[in-house]
Amino acid sequence: MGQKYELHVLLLPYPSQGHINPMLQFAKRLSFHNIQTSMAITRFISNSTRPEPGPVSIVHISDGFDENGFSSAPSIEGYLTRFESIGSETLTDLIELFRSKENPVQILVYDAFLPWALDVANRAGIRTAAFFTQSCGVDAIYWQVWEGRLKYPVNEPVQLGPGLVRFEPWDLPSFLSDPIPGPYPTYLKLVLNQFENLKKADVLLINSFYELEPEEFEWMKSSWRVKSIGPTLPSAYLDDRVPSDSNYAFNLHNPDSTPYLQWLNSKPHSSVIYVSFGSMASLSSDQTNELTSTLVNTKYSFLWVVRASEAATLPKNFIQETQAKGLVVTWCNQLEVLTHDAVGCFLTHCGWNSTTESIALGVPMVCTPQWTDQTTNAKYIEDVWGIGVRARVEDGSGVVKREELERRIGEVMEGERREEIRRNAGKWKELAKEAVSEGGSSDKNIVEFIEEFCK
Ligand code: UDX
Repeated sequence: MGQKYELHVLLLPYPSQGHINPMLQFAKRLSFHNIQTSMAITRFISNSTRPEPGPVSIVHISDGFDENGFSSAPSIEGYLTRFESIGSETLTDLIELFRSKENPVQILVYDAFLPWALDVANRAGIRTAAFFTQSCGVDAIYWQVWEGRLKYPVNEPVQLGPGLVRFEPWDLPSFLSDPIPGPYPTYLKLVLNQFENLKKADVLLINSFYELEPEEFEWMKSSWRVKSIGPTLPSAYLDDRVPSDSNYAFNLHNPDSTPYLQWLNSKPHSSVIYVSFGSMASLSSDQTNELTSTLVNTKYSFLWVVRASEAATLPKNFIQETQAKGLVVTWCNQLEVLTHDAVGCFLTHCGWNSTTESIALGVPMVCTPQWTDQTTNAKYIEDVWGIGVRARVEDGSGVVKREELERRIGEVMEGERREEIRRNAGKWKELAKEAVSEGGSSDKNIVEFIEEFCK
């Protein structure tokens, strides 16, 4: 714990699990440096969760759907439009409230998915930091699309600059190569609009660490004031300096009461496949069939997170059929699971939080990306960091078949590449820890960020 700073930072995440988690952890890092932090969440989320008290105070704004949240919005577009208008008003009120109580906010750290928040802060005379939840490589791709230098749909290989990764179209974020219509145009707009007014932001914070994507960071730095501040895991897992308090998680899903850690305790070292597709992705029924069949046939034990809303998609007898080796839970403490000695690999959708958590805890991955940035994260996991393998769709069906899943799981659990993957995972685990430890690249950036705003 260092110097005492007079600074009040307000943080505004996009209201989903994968965006709240990293911003909450970043806020805790600021609190560790004696900075006052307040995190604004929507009233609906606040009413439906019970965050425990901690160093970050939780305050409220509205997205216009206080009663039933996102699920009651007419469409994604309808949600975002209303959130922008009601969110702007209630964020302005919140900033004014702090000012009237002589507790003014000096900086707004806003999720880059919410560019209107930057305008609110500018009008209120407050400085701003845009917080990018996804990787630097993914942000760089979206930026090029925003600038019109990368046209979509992309159907040939892409390399943004010398020394940067060469992507095949299927490695790019799914919105750029996938011709499927549906809600994609709205999501694509959401990720591209991050750059709409970004020139007005004082600094860009990226939830990654320099050593993981050095070329990408250097490339972004030539145009933007970028700082890596990740990986944003709770301190208990990475940095002993920071007290591990109760406010370390903010679950939008009810944790399952099944004693899954005890179940893991009964399993041998590195013998269990942990399976999870994060907080949003829904598997198609064909993909669910391929996965359930893989898990029925596999010789390994597995722990599978099937969210309560997805439970009905499981085949009727699946749980009985696999109970000797498998456990299905609706939600778990993923970090506790990933640190457990019994876990041998993570069959993951490659959401960026799951990816960075797996990297920081040294767990090899079998990648089954579904959409958005996950395809690009899978490319890095397999080809750049060498810490996992990607299960591929081998025909036009969009579905990874059971034989492919079994083959890829086998490669990570006991194949020829197992040792190399494990060695690489161990190396990245160390580098992640160094980045957030005292004097590491992300730690230095956080201190610089604070000192700059204290001037
Ligand atoms: C979304 C997008 O899908 C992802 O691609 C993007 O990079 C971030 O936003 P999500 O799908 O929820 O995220 O996945 P992920 O980024 O992996 O975040 C899920 C979070 O929920 C992780 O922090 C994970 O630890 C946590 N989790 C997941 C649990 O705590 N328990 C669970 O059972 C499952």
